[in-house]
Amino acid sequence: MMRAIVQEPESNRLIIGEAAAPDPSYGELLIEVKATALNRADLLQKRGFYPPPSGASPILGLEMAGTVLEGAGSWKPGDRVMALLPGGGYAERVRIPVGMAMPIPKGLSFAEAAGIPEVFLTAYLNLFQLGGLQAGQTVLVHAGASGVGTAAIQLAKSAGCDVIATAGSADKLDACLKLGADATIDYKEGPFLPKVLEATAGRGVDVIMDFVGASYWEQNLSALALDGKLIVIGLLGGAKATEVNLSQLIARRLQIIGTSLRTLPPDRKEALTAEFKERFLPLFASGSIRPVIDSEWNWSQAEEAHAYMESNRNIGKIILTIL
Ligand SMILES: NC(=O)c1ccc[n+]([C@@H]2O[C@H](COP(=O)([O-])OP(=O)(O)OC[C@H]3O[C@@H](n4cnc5c(N)ncnc54)[C@H](OP(=O)(O)O)[C@@H]3O)[C@@H](O)[C@H]2O)c1
Repeated sequence: MMRAIVQEPESNRLIIGEAAAPDPSYGELLIEVKATALNRADLLQKRGFYPPPSGASPILGLEMAGTVLEGAGSWKPGDRVMALLPGGGYAERVRIPVGMAMPIPKGLSFAEAAGIPEVFLTAYLNLFQLGGLQAGQTVLVHAGASGVGTAAIQLAKSAGCDVIATAGSADKLDACLKLGADATIDYKEGPFLPKVLEATAGRGVDVIMDFVGASYWEQNLSALALDGKLIVIGLLGGAKATEVNLSQLIARRLQIIGTSLRTLPPDRKEALTAEFKERFLPLFASGSIRPVIDSEWNWSQAEEAHAYMESNRNIGKIILTIL
């Protein structure tokens, strides 16, 4: 057995309890988790809306950083490792396939490393693999100060792209600018569309990373340039879009793409990890890209950390340290 975050039966509150310890198969590493991080999906899963994919741990937690207890491949006990998980991160131990393991870049703590896998792999998948973003193109990143947003701004900038970010407060807009955004828009001050068109001299953007969904639907389509791609990965502003004029899809050759990192098949997750490792991990070691950490919490405060994320106050990642 091991300690893990479980839900108190009556109240549903997150508390430290016990769960069966993972038993690694051939080709898997056993990891002692030092830190994990919150993701919006955890909030949904806690409420019963986002069940883990088949075969995944029912314990919350989509990423972690820790040390190898049982090695495989070139990994030895004691190595510092971080990885995306299909679940199970809010626990003392996890098992992962060798192909999902990434070395923690030099100079980063476990807490910082725990804030990398989910948001940077999400941003990488959507901007580059699905969005096909190229140097010189422009991307619109909504919720720019979110965990995923802070990762997307940095990856896009380091790939030579222009970035426009939206967020809902002055300190969040400022954080986006500090991460390299070329222009920022406070979406609470009015529609973002005129400002996107103004920032792009009327051309629109090549890719939109959207977590907001229904409430941004019409403006998003109008903000896309010829051949633009709208990538929908979250529905913070609702799931049901009402009216849309589909003729612009044809007239401007637009593409709408939806995806979920968690439900990708294991081989695609391993290929994504390998590509990201090769292209971007060296930039963490050199310090030109960094995980943006909002706050660190002892994992006994998981319930409070969830409430904090729900209140939309974080800039970057909320970390739980496993003590
Ligand atoms: N499909 C996938 O594979 C995938 C993977 C990872 C994450 N995601 C999604 O990506 C999104 C971001 O995740 P995260 O963990 O980075 O979130 P996060 O750090 O909690 O940030 C979310 C931010 O979104 C903004 N927001 C909330 N409701 C909004 C609304 N109705 N309209 C506009 N902005 C709103 C808030 O910032 P402001 O103060 O600026 O409003 C909030 O702080 C979530 O929707 C998550 O489910 C999807």
